[in-house]
Amino acid sequence: MIHVRWNNQLADAPVWQGEISNRSGKEKIAQEVSRLVREGDVIGVGSGSTAYLALEQIADRVKEEGLTITGIPTSKEAEMNCAYFGIPTASLIQARPDWGFDGADEADDRKRLIKGRGGALLAEKLVMASSPKTYILVDDSKYVTELGAKLPVPIEVDPRAIHLVETKLEEFPIRSVTLRMAAGKDGPVITEAGNVLLDVEFITIEDDLEKALGAIPGVMETGLFIGYSVEFLTI
Ligand code: A5P
Repeated sequence: MIHVRWNNQLADAPVWQGEISNRSGKEKIAQEVSRLVREGDVIGVGSGSTAYLALEQIADRVKEEGLTITGIPTSKEAEMNCAYFGIPTASLIQARPDWGFDGADEADDRKRLIKGRGGALLAEKLVMASSPKTYILVDDSKYVTELGAKLPVPIEVDPRAIHLVETKLEEFPIRSVTLRMAAGKDGPVITEAGNVLLDVEFITIEDDLEKALGAIPGVMETGLFIGYSVEFLTI
């Protein structure tokens, strides 16, 4: 289904590349979130494979029931998929989400999250912080007993500040800091806001870490999501 009147191959395919791990499990969660959609909803649209599958199911309901909804995308990927599925979009300037959905890279039993594998953490956090509730779509593979046990925390940094931020990070309980390199270009990943990403392994992650990292000059956002209004949809 395409509503953009471009008859090109790029317009005729969703923007999700590659295999989707645990697809059947993720599809069950996607179906669950699609049932929450109501006529007129403004919905924050997350990024990643689970959010993509959820958007697909939501688009099916919209089509079948003739619903009118608006998506607030958290990334270019989400925006392009909304276009592909014929879901109109708005920015946070134009509308506040009634609710949202998104995936996560790690989650603990206190609903603390690491996000940002896809580099969309800044918009993901803006949309989540703007939404009264965000449904987090996670399969078993995302649960950890200790946050940060498997994955580093992405930190989005103004490119001018990488050395300053690395120096300041020495005051934190860290194991390693890596500049995320791009796969489809030379040099580092450049985020949608024109920043770079540092992937930081922490020895421990206390509740106040998100705030403390945000206080470092040059840190634009972190992939720690602690204390937001979230509800888990899981299998
Ligand atoms: C994107 O930046 C991340 O925060 C995603 O929400 C996360 O990577 C989830 O992706 P999957 O649903 O593909 O696991």
